[in-house]
Amino acid sequence: MNALPKTMTFKQKINKDLQMNSEAVMKDIKFPDASCRYEIYDAETLKPENESTYVRLMELGWSQEDFAGKTVLDIGCNSGALSVYASQLGAKHIKSVDIQTELVSFFSKVVKEHSLPISVASAGVNDLDPQKDKADIVLLMEVLHWLVDQGMTVADSISKIASLTAETLYIETPWDISEPAIARKGIIKHSDYNMDLIINELSKHFENVCFVRFMTYFGRMKDSRRVLIRASGRRTAALSLSKLRDANLVSVSLVRGSNHIEMVTTPDGVKVLKTLPRNSAILKLPNKTLEDIFAVLALDSNKVIVTPERIGESVLYLAEDGHSYMLFPFVGELSNFFPKPLAHKPVQEPLQVALDVRRALRGVSTNTINTLREHTPKLPMIDLSALYATIGERSDAIRLKEFLREMIAHKDKVTMETLDAVIHGDLQSGNMLTSPMGEPKVVDLDLIRCGMIYSDILTCAIFFGLSFDEVSKAISIAVAEETRALSKLDIVHAVNHCLGWFRNSIKTEDSSWELRVKRTLMGFDTMMQLNQLLS
Ligand SMILES: C[S@@+](CC[C@H](N)C(=O)[O-])C[C@H]1O[C@@H](n2cnc3c(N)ncnc32)[C@H](O)[C@@H]1O
Repeated sequence: MNALPKTMTFKQKINKDLQMNSEAVMKDIKFPDASCRYEIYDAETLKPENESTYVRLMELGWSQEDFAGKTVLDIGCNSGALSVYASQLGAKHIKSVDIQTELVSFFSKVVKEHSLPISVASAGVNDLDPQKDKADIVLLMEVLHWLVDQGMTVADSISKIASLTAETLYIETPWDISEPAIARKGIIKHSDYNMDLIINELSKHFENVCFVRFMTYFGRMKDSRRVLIRASGRRTAALSLSKLRDANLVSVSLVRGSNHIEMVTTPDGVKVLKTLPRNSAILKLPNKTLEDIFAVLALDSNKVIVTPERIGESVLYLAEDGHSYMLFPFVGELSNFFPKPLAHKPVQEPLQVALDVRRALRGVSTNTINTLREHTPKLPMIDLSALYATIGERSDAIRLKEFLREMIAHKDKVTMETLDAVIHGDLQSGNMLTSPMGEPKVVDLDLIRCGMIYSDILTCAIFFGLSFDEVSKAISIAVAEETRALSKLDIVHAVNHCLGWFRNSIKTEDSSWELRVKRTLMGFDTMMQLNQLLS
């Protein structure tokens, strides 16, 4: 190095360095021609061979804290310099893949020679399997533009890479297609590769997408702008969101039970992206039946039930993660969710809303009811001992227990043939809210199923713990509009339906559990009085 003439440019110096160092490389381990210049290291000492490579590693800003004990997947590892670096930072295991066999065989020799915790494989992005290859940290460094060049879209590339990432994804990539190596080829179009697109797609899959810095090492070597991006916090609803162009998940969860419900902003307004529970009848219905139900709901002038939006062909997205999603317009008060999510504004007159729900669903055809009937779950089995424990020492506990026992005993009288209506099936306070315009809205169609024509009104009365007087008034309005009177079987159905909820919510007690139990018991009390009246 001392022998170098003083007038040598930085570029000449590096070239000279590389030449000298490649002579020093172990005889049988030769750097393949395909290795990137900023990837060249001394195969004996594993140290970078030139200043650019040192500068790059420094600019990555990676530390032992980031890598110690982690598994790493290095996609497009080339000569393996970054995999080596990850192992030096304490990564537990690294899987390094590349499509160029020459590079894979070179790096395999290096790994073997140094007994590094790295497995090297000849594989392309599409050969990787999330079940087997998922790693804590994924490196997609200087590879994304090549994937686009090979015909993959930015959306598909990022979706695939995200599925392989358990914690953190690092992407280093050209800022745009004016990068000389891309521009020279002239294959990639701006509309297929630009930073807007990359950030947008990453944001669909990760909660934290962070621009780390522009990398100067490349700028030193040529006129190129490279950007380092770090993405972490995998989103659960990402797969279905990738079908929604220009949508942003804003990290406001509206979840109340165990299924994800996320708030999403789109150019068409604020939406709610909801995972359907696996037992939802909606998942089993033929598309035509679903369409029929939504067509009937669209005729409702009150628009009391919030219906899902169509994106492309369907209202139901079956995502790769095995979940199905639906997208609904957001109908609550945004101010209730920013800056911190609060409960939504409840409705003033739940029974009036339940009557409107019945009116909205009354137009569903017999054919549709018949199809839905086939997919309606049977009334649940109830373990009364767990229930009795929650009833406790009320003064009328004996009567109430007796009544519930009677209701359960008559459960089998509710046969599929007696189910004469499509019902919302979940008219509890969490699903009934007031819009900013003061209109009552019913959300969450998950539990739509066949029930009886008075089911929604009665279950709503139970969930809200409404009094006998209030419920009698609502029932007399309903009876005047229906083709049959209220029967004991309606009460049997509603009570058993609610007991199912009661049983499930015993498992998921939360802070409002006691209040809900108290209300529900009051509701059962009202049902007991109604039942006596019908005797
Ligand atoms: C520019 S080099 C980057 C090397 C290394 N990741 C780094 O940043 O130092 C790009 C590498 O990606 C590899 N590559 C290109 N298409 C690939 C694909 N579909 N799957 C896996 N690797 C690919 C190439 O063989 C090449 O070694």
